[in-house]
Amino acid sequence: MSGYKFALIVMSDSRSKNPAKDKVKPVVDEILRRIDSKLMLYDVIPDEKDLIKEKLMRYVNNDVDVILTSGGTGFHPRDVTPDATKEILDYEVPFIPQAILYFSLTKTKRAMLSRMVAGVRNRKLIINLPGSPKAVDECLGYIVDILPHAIDKLKGDNSPCGE
Ligand code: MTE
Repeated sequence: MSGYKFALIVMSDSRSKNPAKDKVKPVVDEILRRIDSKLMLYDVIPDEKDLIKEKLMRYVNNDVDVILTSGGTGFHPRDVTPDATKEILDYEVPFIPQAILYFSLTKTKRAMLSRMVAGVRNRKLIINLPGSPKAVDECLGYIVDILPHAIDKLKGDNSPCGE
């Protein structure tokens, strides 16, 4: 188990004007080290639905296993990440956001304010995460150890699932 390839797209109108201010990437880098994995692709883009769909598809067609997004999952009129994501998915994976929610509610009741989705396009797993570094730490930190198994299955691994 090692060497999975990840991409990260940070959605933020303000940080896209000054990507150096993004504090999510270091959090993701640290968590991915736990499964010997790395970010191969990374960008900070504004909360524009068409731009998000275009970037997601560009990353889907790259050599990565998982595409993480951060930000734009709430109720603000500019929060469109889940809507853009749903439009490009082959199928949704609802239990990943549900599992994140159950855990996140033990941290903050505000967790119920995220509309995050997860799903698969072209055998690539796409997972929305909220925008704050703290939320990313909690949400990605909770699920990271199941991702290798998910990736292996997406790649066609036929071995039994017993833990
Ligand atoms: N989930 C966890 N685990 N920790 C958090 O701090 N913040 C919540 C929620 N999910 C949070 C969380 C808040 S305050 C909001 S508004 C929503 O995520 C949406 O965040 P986003 O708009 O940055 O995507």
